[in-house]
Amino acid sequence: MNIIITGGAGFIGSHVVRLFVNKYPEYHIINVDKLTYAGNLANLKDIEDKPNYTFVKADICDFDKMRELMAQYAVNGIIHLAAESHVDRSIKDPFTFARTNVLGTLSLLQAAKTYWENLPEGYEGKRFYHISTDEVYGALQFDGTLFTEQTKYDPHSPYSASKASSDHFVRAFHDTYGMPTIVTNCSNNYGPYQFPEKLIPLFINNIRHRKPLPVYGKGENVRDWLYVEDHARAIDLIFHKGKVADTYNIGGFNEWKNIDLIKVIIKTVDRLLGHPEGYSLDLITYVTDRQGHDLRYAIDSTKLKRELGWEPSLQFEEGIEKTVKWYLENEAWLENVTSGEYQRYYEGMYKDR
Ligand code: NAD
Ligand code: DAU
Repeated sequence: MNIIITGGAGFIGSHVVRLFVNKYPEYHIINVDKLTYAGNLANLKDIEDKPNYTFVKADICDFDKMRELMAQYAVNGIIHLAAESHVDRSIKDPFTFARTNVLGTLSLLQAAKTYWENLPEGYEGKRFYHISTDEVYGALQFDGTLFTEQTKYDPHSPYSASKASSDHFVRAFHDTYGMPTIVTNCSNNYGPYQFPEKLIPLFINNIRHRKPLPVYGKGENVRDWLYVEDHARAIDLIFHKGKVADTYNIGGFNEWKNIDLIKVIIKTVDRLLGHPEGYSLDLITYVTDRQGHDLRYAIDSTKLKRELGWEPSLQFEEGIEKTVKWYLENEAWLENVTSGEYQRYYEGMYKDR
């Protein structure tokens, strides 16, 4: 297969690219990424010279470029992860989210449609797999209920509204044109290579520098955490075995109240840095809540287990230990990402490709 993976230089995308490049030497993996502040080719250093891997710096909103890439690489599969992904940024700048998440997804769909429809075999053997989020389902109360594939969409933030809209476009392309699409909705991911504006890497980095840990509101919001490599394994399975036009929820049945999770992070970082227990607790700083802050997310991934046999492989304790260790051992990565140096470096390096 010749597969375009969009957003492959980002957090989850880099794990998916690495998995596919290493596991399927017979495939050609084309990583299409605009390299925004969140995209970082250093995430893929270990595989960048593999013969079955190509990087293309491009914006998914550029329809002509997407159409050209489809034909140039005879693409028969797309795994679409490129997006603006940070809720706080979407509250400040919703237009960027509508542009990339909605119009970018539409441009990719239309490029695939116009290329695939004109082939003799049409959509046969093709697949457009769209990676979405549990946030499109809205917010749960503290009542034990879970998001299932039947839960009605009810997005609250500009980010989740843009992701919901893109999901609708993907499904519309199946229903209207017969494009073989799949959508998955996953819970919060954590692990190596996550940009340190998201809760877990931000707090690890701040503890390292003895900076305040800004806890939104009372820290009572709940998120359902999944180790990123388990998400990548689910994407591999669903890309190959998932039913066309179907939706699968992906999650680890691993709910944590923010403040409890923050205490686990503090305890782990302090232990690994050789500080006494409780040393960094004084960094906890309660700040004004996020606007429209969703109270609780929790995914029911029973369908994925029942139909395709997927389960998370890592216990949370093990996952968080691995994650904290990774950030502490990869200080240079953290420094590069936060200084913005990497962006200038790689833009120069790839500008002629
Ligand atoms: P990320 O912000 O780390 O990475 C996004 C990547 O997309 C970056 O490499 C960026 O350069 C690229 N990109 C952004 N705009 C682009 C454009 N216009 N054209 C081409 N490339 C562009 O995001 P992430 O956390 O890895 O999330 C990846 C996907 O998974 C997103 O679609 C997100 O909605 C979804 N998701 C994320 C989580 C999570 O917890 N992080 C959970 C569920 C679903
Ligand atoms: O649920 C899946 C989603 O998870 C993905 O679709 C998003 O792309 C991803 O960013 C993530 O969204 P969240 O808003 O849940 O993640 P974030 O790390 O920004 O915040 C996690 C929780 O921690 C949330 O309740 C807000 C809170 N928080 C976050 C930050 C950055 C704080 O209390 N302080 C902070 O500084």
